[in-house]
Amino acid sequence: MHHERQFCQSVRMDLYDLSAVNGPVHLSAVKVETPSVAPHGQENLRRHRGNYSVPKGNIELFVERSYFPPDESYRLGFSVSVRFNLSNPPNTMKRLYVKPGRLSLGTVAVVCLVGLMAGRSTAEDAKKKLVVGFSQVGAESQWRTANTESIKSEAAKRGIDLRFSDAQQKEENQIKAIRSFIAQGVDVIAFSPVVETGFEPVLQEAKKAGIPVVLSDRAVKVSDPSLYVSFIGSYFIEEGRRAANEVAKLTGGKAKIAELVGTVGSAPAIDRKKGFEEVLTKYPDMKIIMSQSGDFTRAKGKEVMEAFLKAPNAKDINVLFAHNDDMALGAIQAMEEAGIKPGTDIKIVSIDGVHGAFEAMKDGKLNVTVECNPLLGPQLFDLIEKVANKQEVPKRVVTQEGVYEQAQAAAELPNRKY
Ligand code: AHR
Repeated sequence: MHHERQFCQSVRMDLYDLSAVNGPVHLSAVKVETPSVAPHGQENLRRHRGNYSVPKGNIELFVERSYFPPDESYRLGFSVSVRFNLSNPPNTMKRLYVKPGRLSLGTVAVVCLVGLMAGRSTAEDAKKKLVVGFSQVGAESQWRTANTESIKSEAAKRGIDLRFSDAQQKEENQIKAIRSFIAQGVDVIAFSPVVETGFEPVLQEAKKAGIPVVLSDRAVKVSDPSLYVSFIGSYFIEEGRRAANEVAKLTGGKAKIAELVGTVGSAPAIDRKKGFEEVLTKYPDMKIIMSQSGDFTRAKGKEVMEAFLKAPNAKDINVLFAHNDDMALGAIQAMEEAGIKPGTDIKIVSIDGVHGAFEAMKDGKLNVTVECNPLLGPQLFDLIEKVANKQEVPKRVVTQEGVYEQAQAAAELPNRKY
């Protein structure tokens, strides 16, 4: 029997023969397997945990079949196993049958059996690893490399089964990764969105599958805030404001600014620009005269700076504001190749605080870096573990950060962790 792909197909099953049980039950694990979801051999697995009240003689269980890849058929056939902790276990347990009641798939599911023993599953559950799917933006910057390393090492330290996916700065890859995490039935999905928009449908799929989502580093724009549980990351608008204040200090409020923007549509690019421009309104003699995206990479930063320096008004530029250090470092190279002294002829303010930026400040080539902390691993997994344990978490967690000027660079450099 084949059936075309289903999205979050709900299958209702009635478990009978629970006449011996009447009262609260902690459903510690329900495992739904479709062994024949070939060709990928993926199992569609969802765990329903929680406290259920069992009406006399019957428990009704909703099994949601989550995402199946499009264009794929699968053979229908379930086996369901359920483990209970019973608060008032009966002396004898009868074999339980899962009967496919009102199956909307219209075909027969396989009956399965349930092993029951009060308390037995607690120890087994304790051993079960937390499974977290993490979709990373890519490897575009030193910041990102440090962020990935922090996430991976923290997961390893905590014994978490981390399913890590690199989106290579493409939103479509990230959507695919999230769908695959849903299909794998991970406990929690975390991701750092490449851009702000376009994630609503896939987040709705995650919600339907009952998988909580935590945003790391970057925000998304969604009409329904319940599509994610929490967002941990920097306050990018403030970083933009800090950068502009530093430009004002460096230039006495007289600046013709070239701006290297981050990835178009990404939260840091949008918010840093917003914060920066907000402060500019207080300084009539500080103006952005050129602005273009360098996609947060060193190579693009260099390329765009080369173009800026070829513009007819290139001589007017006395400040470069780069949305991240990597683009600033690329721009420094472009300036040097054009015979311009970075940090002197053109003052440079950027954001992140990576090692390379401190080196450049020490060498007098970069003036200021506004810190953006990538070491989110420990805080992120604190949040994720709470979410997995159904504990309350704040909707927004903001990381603490500073601002570093050239004069501090040499002393600070040995303390930098990324
Ligand atoms: O989202 C954080 C930004 O993304 C960092 O500033 C940048 O370096 C990274 O690529």
